Amino acid sequence: MVDRYQKMTASGPGALLARRLGLPRPEILERHRPGRPVLSGPVVVDGAEGGRLTGPLRELVASLPSAASGSAGSPGSPGSPGSSGSRNATAALVFDATGITGSGGLRALHDFFHPRIRSLAPCGRVVVLGTPPEAAGGVRQAVAQRALEGFVRSVGKELRRGATAHLLLVAPGAEDAVESTLRFALSARSAYVSGQVVRIGQPVKGTAAPADWERPLEGRTAVVTGAARGIGAVVAETLARDGATVVCLDVPGQGGELRELAGRIGGDALELDITADGADGVLAEHLSARHGGVDVVVHNAGITRDKTLGRMDAAKWDSVVAVNLTAVERLTERLLETGDSGRPVLREGGRIVCTSSISGIAGNVGQTNYAASKAGLIGLVQALAPVVAGRGVTVNAVAPGFIETRMTAAVPLFVREAGRRMNSMKQGGQPVDVAEAVAYLASPGSGGVSGQVLRVCGQSLLGA
Ligand SMILES: NC(=O)c1ccc[n+]([C@@H]2O[C@H](COP(=O)([O-])OP(=O)(O)OC[C@H]3O[C@@H](n4cnc5c(N)ncnc54)[C@H](O)[C@@H]3O)[C@@H](O)[C@H]2O)c1
Repeated sequence: MVDRYQKMTASGPGALLARRLGLPRPEILERHRPGRPVLSGPVVVDGAEGGRLTGPLRELVASLPSAASGSAGSPGSPGSPGSSGSRNATAALVFDATGITGSGGLRALHDFFHPRIRSLAPCGRVVVLGTPPEAAGGVRQAVAQRALEGFVRSVGKELRRGATAHLLLVAPGAEDAVESTLRFALSARSAYVSGQVVRIGQPVKGTAAPADWERPLEGRTAVVTGAARGIGAVVAETLARDGATVVCLDVPGQGGELRELAGRIGGDALELDITADGADGVLAEHLSARHGGVDVVVHNAGITRDKTLGRMDAAKWDSVVAVNLTAVERLTERLLETGDSGRPVLREGGRIVCTSSISGIAGNVGQTNYAASKAGLIGLVQALAPVVAGRGVTVNAVAPGFIETRMTAAVPLFVREAGRRMNSMKQGGQPVDVAEAVAYLASPGSGGVSGQVLRVCGQSLLGA
């Protein structure tokens, strides 16, 4: 779907008019293309004294593919001063805050970022690393580490021109599991993700850096529900780009589009209504018989039937809960059950990604049914994560905000325009933004991330 306002303000006269009137000018976001390096320019890495991650971070950042000549960024160097947008502007500012043990130490954030933040490039990145407050060594340290969240979310809101900010909370002992998340946060793959707190814990069994970060899903099989169009179709394409064989699932009425997609990406099509009686058995049988199991399950199929509660009939309530939540529970349970082969259909090291929504976090007028179903998915990933960790399986959710699809095209104009602009990016996201987040969570390298909800909403003002 075309954002006409963004197109208009990207042109010379449109940009001038927007500037004169003080209107927002949504940046054209840089997105990943195959072969594009993780870093688009120089990076500055530093840390508060005593930080346990500063050393490993310097090494890691220096090893990442970069478009900048020479190494990825000299730790502690000031970065190139000057206005953002200059050719030598800093691509990313990375700060290890794990050494901050009390509120006085928070001054290190100001000392590092104040002189550098204005030299951040368009679509630049700010990444702060901390310790989960519950793992801190005492109250004072917990206070200081919790403070990082307010800092990073505010930085995300202050940044302009498509730049983003993230906080990665790394549990003690999980230092080796940071790379996958750091790559995502620093790269153009996270174009529409900002103001997020990602917790990296002890990696599940079998977590390993992929041999090829451009094809992390090589040799793996994925299933994507609701794959015929919208976000699901782009998730299927993105997982195939990353090397997976993708089973594209959608209702029988969408068979044409589904087969076309499956053919194009070298996967197969499964026409199935996930709410039908026995759908879980049909899916399990298909995956076992054709693929010997599955490695990645993306629950993407979803519907809306909006009405305020007093006007919502029971059919609207039931259909939304059935597709968005009950079917997801049933399919997931079945794929985790031990089958005739003596093994579950979801193989060891599997990845489950649910598609929640910011409505499930913040609530929304006319969406009691939808928000309940999407909040239920958050409950599912949080409750299931510790149960399946022993099998090397992770389970997470993405929570899209306003994404340009047929679903949002159907929203009335005024509400649609408000939804597009009420975020730090001043624009709607693209389906590929959700797909990149799903691909990151699906990676074998992301085993330290489980039970979490990653918002893909351009730091929407709705919700926390
Ligand atoms: N578009 C957004 O802004 C947005 C925001 C938040 C969350 N989401 C979520 O993202 C997911 C995809 O959204 P979208 O905008 O691409 O929607 P969409 O309507 O374009 O696509 C949804 C797909 O799911 C399929 N589907 C519906 N019921 C099914 C069933 N019973 N069995 C199998 N397939 C079924 C549909 O046929 C369709 O192909 C949904 O879960 C939605 O709730 C979307």
